[in-house]
Amino acid sequence: MSDAIKPELPASSDSDESQHSLLSNLDELQSDVSSVQDLEIAAASANAVIAEAVAEAAAHREANHIDHPEPIVTPYIDFEDVSIAFGDRKILDHVSFNVGRGQTLCILGRSGVGKSVSLRILLGFLKADSGYIRVDGQDIMAMDERGLQEVRKHVTMVFQNGALFDSLTVGENIAFPLREKGGLVEDQVQQLVSRLLELVDQSETVDRLPSSLSMGQKRCIAIARALAAQPEAILYDEPTTMVDPIMGRNIGDLIQRLKHQLGITSIVVTHDMRFAMRLADLVLFLESGTARFFGTIREFLDCTDPHVQQFLALDTYALPLPAAS
Ligand SMILES: Nc1ncnc2c1ncn2[C@@H]1O[C@H](COP(=O)(O)OP(=O)(O)O)[C@@H](O)[C@H]1O
Ligand SMILES: [Mg+2]
Repeated sequence: MSDAIKPELPASSDSDESQHSLLSNLDELQSDVSSVQDLEIAAASANAVIAEAVAEAAAHREANHIDHPEPIVTPYIDFEDVSIAFGDRKILDHVSFNVGRGQTLCILGRSGVGKSVSLRILLGFLKADSGYIRVDGQDIMAMDERGLQEVRKHVTMVFQNGALFDSLTVGENIAFPLREKGGLVEDQVQQLVSRLLELVDQSETVDRLPSSLSMGQKRCIAIARALAAQPEAILYDEPTTMVDPIMGRNIGDLIQRLKHQLGITSIVVTHDMRFAMRLADLVLFLESGTARFFGTIREFLDCTDPHVQQFLALDTYALPLPAAS
């Protein structure tokens, strides 16, 4: 963006500085992915980067005789030994996983296995019966609602339906967290709204109501709104479900850019293995209440556990996987 259209930011206050850094982040992130061809190139390069990273990690593991993923010294999100039951139905039974800052974890598993419940527990919308949950070292289980609201400023959720305010236009939806934060004049809010809309390639929807948008568009707007709060981590619940393939790829590309360029930590609930292949550093596979697998994507693909194999085989049957590196 040229200086001419940058909002005038008065000299330093914390809030101004943080909005200024949001603007420079947006400058860096500005999408040039606008055509199917561009998307294909972006997807191919993302796949190449992942393949390279996976090969490097495998060589490193082999050279150092490491059978398991290296433990993350200080996980950004740490979910340890968590259990929850509804009545006498155990949904999560001593489930553990962790995610380092800037990593992407994909949570896989069949419908009803507790994927969404895990995300809701993580943000304190649901209380686990036992276990430990830490975000950036802070104990979520011990927090009151006020503390949880503070955490939700740093870790935001993109819900399946976008959870947009139906009576507000797209622009007003995105402006909401900016206004709530305070410290910005209206011109600055409008500049940021249009930059965020450009980023998710939805500028033309600014005056529309959510009810007139497709599911994919709603998810893009929800991501833009999440970014307005300048989060450190974003949790996505089934971001590609009921979305056309091009839009799905677009969303995947956006999640990748947020990771690589802003260092955002992501947890992505999905049943789409292709999507997971492209995005995941780590995989958690939930089955029958347990964490059947937790490790790197490469290890997941190589895993000989019959339950994992069966899940992969079903998905491969539905949609062939790209060749493993
Ligand atoms: N608040 C709740 N009260 C009772 N049962 C629930 C509640 N939330 C989720 N469940 C049940 O927990 C199970 C896991 O749900 P969920 O995490 O939404 O599955 P998914 O893996 O498809 O996201 C489902 O059987 C669901 O019906
Ligand atoms: Mg779900």
